[in-house]
Amino acid sequence: MKSEEIRKLFLEFFEKRGHKIIPSSSLIPYDDPSVLLTTAGMQQFKKYFTREKDPNQDFGTQRTASIQKCFRTTDIEEVGDERHLTFFEMLGNFSFGPIGNDDPQNFGTDGYFKRSAIYWAYEFIKSLGLEIDYVTVFGGENDVPFDEKSYKIWQEIGFPENKILKGGREDNFWGPTGDEGPCGPTTEIYVDGLEIWNLVFNEYYQDKDGKLQKLQYPGVDTGMGLERLMKVLQKTPTIFETDLFMDLKNVLEKLIKHDDLRRERIVFDHLRGSVFLVADGLYPSNLERGYILRRILRRLTLNLKFLGIDLEKIDDLLKAVINKYSEFYPELKNFSKIKEVIFGEIRIFEKTLTAGLKEFNRLIKGNEDDQSLAEKTFFLYTSYGLPLEIAKELLRENQIKWSEISQQTFEELFKKHQQISRGNNK
Ligand code: SER
Repeated sequence: MKSEEIRKLFLEFFEKRGHKIIPSSSLIPYDDPSVLLTTAGMQQFKKYFTREKDPNQDFGTQRTASIQKCFRTTDIEEVGDERHLTFFEMLGNFSFGPIGNDDPQNFGTDGYFKRSAIYWAYEFIKSLGLEIDYVTVFGGENDVPFDEKSYKIWQEIGFPENKILKGGREDNFWGPTGDEGPCGPTTEIYVDGLEIWNLVFNEYYQDKDGKLQKLQYPGVDTGMGLERLMKVLQKTPTIFETDLFMDLKNVLEKLIKHDDLRRERIVFDHLRGSVFLVADGLYPSNLERGYILRRILRRLTLNLKFLGIDLEKIDDLLKAVINKYSEFYPELKNFSKIKEVIFGEIRIFEKTLTAGLKEFNRLIKGNEDDQSLAEKTFFLYTSYGLPLEIAKELLRENQIKWSEISQQTFEELFKKHQQISRGNNK
């Protein structure tokens, strides 16, 4: 089964069970100042969990389902290994309180809770022919009690004790996104050793001071990563061999001059991520979310270059992403705009990079102390425009350690430099 079919099956499954299908919201959150980018499916529904908005009025039901574009920057430097991604798709079903008849046979439009959420997740996974290895539930920590209800439901379904593991706040409690919002205990489903589905029972609201208050009505927020699901369904070695990346991989492999798996994965992730960010109207800049885009485009340029790819060939790569995704995400159809923004940024940065790299190789030998490493990196920045994060990336690749002292020294030099440029130098 291909990803196109899975999206369809998921949405049909929940539509049949009273859920209104809601399109993915933009990666640029329109009314959530707590985060720079959309990181979870529940984000566009936050106000329904808190009842600032009425789901019945807006959706005609208390149940929704979506496939949400998500972008997470926490692990950006890990991208390149087998599993980390910045951009991904999340399949989710949601229920907003008050809870009605929480019976999995109830295909109505009232709110549901743990029983229906768990039974349906189990049923959907089974319908795909997958076997669940084990599940986890919240074991209780501090003021939040053990989620006995979820535990019992899994037992009722037939899971023995050794397949229902208990976790604490770290593993089995989700949210909020940003610094405040709905959150709660989770139960997670593992297939082939991978956590594929996270069922969150939003029973709390965490305020800015980290304090938990009970929500007026508890709700359900589930999220299943499409890439991971496709990996277990298609039984591929990693997510990068699933159909989600295959077309792009085929094009890339024709263009590369030197094999390097890590760099290829960075290109898959950053190219796909930047296409989606640009399609949602983001431009590279030095500020906040614009800087996230700039950062991944710079990293993309670096890795394309090291793979020996002619940047003029970026068209083929962009088209491979757009062809794969634009039927489901029509905002991707504007090829010329997407190309203009991405290619524009890459081309400018490539010039900086070429000069910066040459100087980097000439200057940095790997035997300098922390202080002089910072000074040299700073020189590369001021004289060649080589951004620190790219210099650090090159250092990492060359196994040269960038220490706390180097970082502090760089920052001090940077501050002095700013004062001088502002004319404050006495
Ligand atoms: N919000 C939860 C997550 O992002 C479940 O959807 O994992």
